[in-house]
Amino acid sequence: MMRTTTVLFVTVLLLVVSSVVNSCPPSDRAALLAFKAALREPYLGIFNSWVGNDCCHNWYGISCDQQSRRVADISLRGESEDPIFEKAHRTGYMTGFISPEICKLTRLSSITIADWKGISGEIPRCISSLPFLRIIDLIGNRISGDIPSDIGRLHRLTVFNIADNQISGQIPQSLTNLSSLMHLDLRNNRISGPIPRSFGRLRMLSRALLSGNQISGQIPGFISLIYRLADLDLSRNQLSGPIPASLGKMAVLATLNLDANRLSGNIPVSLFSSGISDLNLSRNSLEGNIPDVFGPRSYFTVLDLSHNNLKGSIPKSISSASYIGHLDLSHNHLCGQIPSGSPFDHLQASSFVYNDCLCGKPLKPC
Ligand SMILES: *[C@@H]1O[C@H](CO)[C@@H](O)[C@H](O)[C@H]1NC(C)=O
Ligand SMILES: *[C@@H]1O[C@H](CO)[C@@H](O)[C@H](O)[C@H]1NC(C)=O
Repeated sequence: MMRTTTVLFVTVLLLVVSSVVNSCPPSDRAALLAFKAALREPYLGIFNSWVGNDCCHNWYGISCDQQSRRVADISLRGESEDPIFEKAHRTGYMTGFISPEICKLTRLSSITIADWKGISGEIPRCISSLPFLRIIDLIGNRISGDIPSDIGRLHRLTVFNIADNQISGQIPQSLTNLSSLMHLDLRNNRISGPIPRSFGRLRMLSRALLSGNQISGQIPGFISLIYRLADLDLSRNQLSGPIPASLGKMAVLATLNLDANRLSGNIPVSLFSSGISDLNLSRNSLEGNIPDVFGPRSYFTVLDLSHNNLKGSIPKSISSASYIGHLDLSHNHLCGQIPSGSPFDHLQASSFVYNDCLCGKPLKPC
């Protein structure tokens, strides 16, 4: 009898001790509850699971580090395959703001608060004091204000995605200190001012997506120092000046979108003899001839040079390209016979219309 009681007592004690050891620290729990209090999610009830003492256990979107039991990830996506969304037959919607209380979660490694459409307010300034942050993904909300000026302190940050918000101000100089950054997505905000000259210091960067802002000034040639860069999208901004020829010398650059800016000068020859397969230079003020440098190694899924001031004829060498999926040369001042050949067989008149005097298939005969 005595022994059974002792065993029972020890077991209960062990259970109590282990549950205290395993549950999240009360300070992390308090920070999460304060974070939740600044948000309102009326349709899905994702926060209904945020009850009880152990915020590491079954709190929707929260996960903790196995060893330290500190909160490591916040992952709240408004568009998700999770059954909670299927049951409600809708995507998420949330209002409110991201509380600075989030910065008390000093072990955070990722913050994903994406596609909730209605979250406004600013990015908490203190976010740049979270030393373990690797991912910031706030895409698809209504967040305003500027990028924290000391963002560059986050030396572990690999993903910084604030696309589709209402962020304004300039790209802070300190952003170029993010030495681990691989994926930068600032698309569709209200960011103005120049691309920092020192942008080329982001040596780990593979995708730089800055389109749909009000970024002005020239494209810094130093961008070509980023030898891992595969995708550069600067379209729909107010960039002016020439296209740096060095962009055509980059090792792995495959997509280059510079469309809808105010770029001028000739198109660098290097762009046509590079590894770039998706090239959109449409809607600028580019002039001069299309360089006659195409060959069997020229491969373009997209080659859009429409809406510029290009003149001369379409170079004959272009028909020796191995593939041109989508070609648009419309709205320029080109003249002369359209070359024939396999890359051209599938193209329609719309690829060539609104030039000065182009002729031949698929336009009218010369
Ligand atoms: C970038 O980091 C260096 C070294 O850590 C620091 O001295 C410098 O002030 C930082 N630059 C900016 C603009 O934050
Ligand atoms: C190229 O950019 C223009 C202007 O932004 C856009 O309208 C067009 O659809 C783009 N071309 C392709 C093939 O995506």
